[in-house]
Amino acid sequence: MQQIASPYTLPNGSVLKNRIAKSAMSENIGTFSNAPTQTLINVYSVWAKGDPGLLITGNVMIDSRALGEPKNVVVEDYTHFDLLKQWAKTVEGTGVHLWPQLNHPGRQAFASINKEIVAPSAVPLKMGGASGMFKTATPLTEEAIWDIVKRFGNAARILKEAGFTGCQIHGAHGYLVSQFLSPISNTRKDKWGGVLENRARFVLEVYREIRKQVGADYPIGIKINSADFQRGGFTEEESMEVVQILSKEGIDLIEISGGTYEKPAMVKGNRKQSTLEREAYFLDYIEKARSITNKPLLLTGGFRSVQVMEDALAGGKLDIVGLARPFCLYPNLAKDIFDGRVARFEAPVPTIGIKLLDKMGGVELPWYELQIQRLGKGKQPKPKLPGIWAFIFTLKGMFIKSFIKN
Ligand SMILES: Cc1cc2nc3c(=O)[nH]c(=O)nc-3n(C[C@H](O)[C@H](O)[C@H](O)COP(=O)(O)O)c2cc1C
Repeated sequence: MQQIASPYTLPNGSVLKNRIAKSAMSENIGTFSNAPTQTLINVYSVWAKGDPGLLITGNVMIDSRALGEPKNVVVEDYTHFDLLKQWAKTVEGTGVHLWPQLNHPGRQAFASINKEIVAPSAVPLKMGGASGMFKTATPLTEEAIWDIVKRFGNAARILKEAGFTGCQIHGAHGYLVSQFLSPISNTRKDKWGGVLENRARFVLEVYREIRKQVGADYPIGIKINSADFQRGGFTEEESMEVVQILSKEGIDLIEISGGTYEKPAMVKGNRKQSTLEREAYFLDYIEKARSITNKPLLLTGGFRSVQVMEDALAGGKLDIVGLARPFCLYPNLAKDIFDGRVARFEAPVPTIGIKLLDKMGGVELPWYELQIQRLGKGKQPKPKLPGIWAFIFTLKGMFIKSFIKN
């Protein structure tokens, strides 16, 4: 049997039926009041039929006042509990695990759809011409920090009750957890900032609160940056220390990624040709991480060829292979591998020729969201979809939500 098809047991005893995970992709197809829609629920039935070991949802927000995108799902109480149950039911009887990814965007929140933006410190995003879409955040008070910590736990518990089989903290890509970790975005002088021990306090408290609310046996994972890839930012050495801290606490699965809105290495790699040829962007890091933790490691970013995935698993560098964009165009990805139908999964980078937008993924990300929407509507993916539709989709969503907000 290919190693990629072999089962894997997490420390809590949950069995992933194979080594393939669909990594989180913000679907942006909830309602404008941030409830799950039938289209969103359907797409998870489609993906479950494709038979991966683990499906991680797009980021679910834990506070309706802090959205990454206009149609993110928000879980802060039981308002949409029946829909959450339907969502969790999509994997029933398949043996596929379904985990929500829990997130708070912090300063990476568009000003047009959020009234007040909060973050560890008032450090504006440096995104050139796109900076105007964001505004400088208000630093979080001690009380507000604890409120957010509690919200992570609350959302995890509600989703567990709805039937999700584990959860993942979004600690990567420059969102709130990652903002606390990075000395660029966290310039606090209190116990939440300064030395790494202080910057890591937030993620640790979030983990502990979730653990308290979901119990000892429920799997909790984290997606963490190998680095921010920015001068003066969160370094690889610091990331390793956080991995060790969370390993000691009992985290069940560590997913490695990298980058922020300012430096989007998560979808581009660090651009070295050698890295691109090797596909997996953060392979060097995971090899080092393997030597400092015995917790399960999941690597995401750039995997395209089945052979590269197999080699990475065979070398023991990682336990689970994570893919995101290919799942939008190959919804049966895991089955395609096991049946030997596909040896390489292409995932194009659509653009519209406006440098600023193309560079920050302003077309690429919504283009993939549109493919997800197609799957949820029972359509086939459309690899030739013009990028301009993605741009229009984004503008429309932002425009409507900005009216609702005000
Ligand atoms: C449309 C889209 C939405 C994404 N949303 C999220 C998200 O909500 N949370 C997250 O951790 N990563 C998100 N990502 C990043 C992916 O999980 C993944 O790290 C990245 O796409 C690299 O993997 P890939 O090369 O297999 O696509 C998103 C990527 C795309 C394309």
